[in-house]
Amino acid sequence: MHTLPIQIPLWTDVQGRTESLVNVAQVPQRSPFRYPGGKTWLVPYIRAWLKSSSTPKVFVEPFVGGGIISLTVAFEELAEHVVMAELDKHVSALWKTILSVDSEWLIERILSFEMTAEAVQEELMRTPECEREIGFQTLLRNRTCHGGIMAPGSGVMKHGENGRGIASRWYPKTLATRIRRIAEIRSRITFLNTDGLALMQERASERDTAFFLDPPYTAGKNGKRAGRRLYACNELDHEALFEIAKSLTGRFLMTYDVADEIVEMANRSGFDVSTVSMKNTHHAQMHELLISQNFSWKK
Ligand SMILES: C[S@@+](CC[C@H](N)C(=O)[O-])C[C@H]1O[C@@H](n2cnc3c(N)ncnc32)[C@H](O)[C@@H]1O
Repeated sequence: MHTLPIQIPLWTDVQGRTESLVNVAQVPQRSPFRYPGGKTWLVPYIRAWLKSSSTPKVFVEPFVGGGIISLTVAFEELAEHVVMAELDKHVSALWKTILSVDSEWLIERILSFEMTAEAVQEELMRTPECEREIGFQTLLRNRTCHGGIMAPGSGVMKHGENGRGIASRWYPKTLATRIRRIAEIRSRITFLNTDGLALMQERASERDTAFFLDPPYTAGKNGKRAGRRLYACNELDHEALFEIAKSLTGRFLMTYDVADEIVEMANRSGFDVSTVSMKNTHHAQMHELLISQNFSWKK
């Protein structure tokens, strides 16, 4: 039997106010990344979900990407500790640098970089000698490529966005502040360059652990194309993801593109499926799936 997801019609925030779409401008921007598929719009939902029962000891995000959700949980102390994982070596190098003593080196490098198209090209052609250099290159690539897309085939902006050229998304002072703030709370965060599925399996028996699962959307024919375009690491065994999610003792929340294959897998696993509306970066209204177990969005 194919159960259709329920639409979360109006969001009631913790103060009891209702709104139909999340206003992303009100969510603190904490990540230095511009991440394709970034989940800033989901922040109010994550807050409500985590506050709906006792504070988890550990919050695990196995597919962390730009990390806005993990950062929010760490800054707002919505869990005692945050564990984030990412398979992509370049993305990982940036996280490791930010969360290590090299964060000050990185900040200095950002503030002293003279942003021109030539300087970007020269820096990105250079063979990095250590992890922090890979980290800097990753940030530079992320902030100068169209839509923050770093997957093979993506290109550096020529005309930039809002007519500001290659520097249109390079805000050195803002990036420095964000990185410094994250570094200040680094004791609350553990970063792992590992396979998210393996991490979930390792922690499956932990009762006080909450998992936020935002895998690359590569299920189905359309999903495969979208996922390949956005991420270098885009191969994922979605059946295995659902099997492992089923085995989790702690609670989880998963987001996905609206796709029949996913709704079917979720129904088969006995999970709750809702759809939620949000606005994408082009202000178009989009829908995504929220999949969870033993949690209702209805108040
Ligand atoms: C949809 S994005 C996450 C976006 C993130 N929630 C954000 O707000 O920025 C999925 C991420 O999973 C990563 N990834 C893909 N396969 C993975 C795996 N097996 N283990 C860990 N990370 C993986 C991709 O590199 C990508 O960064």
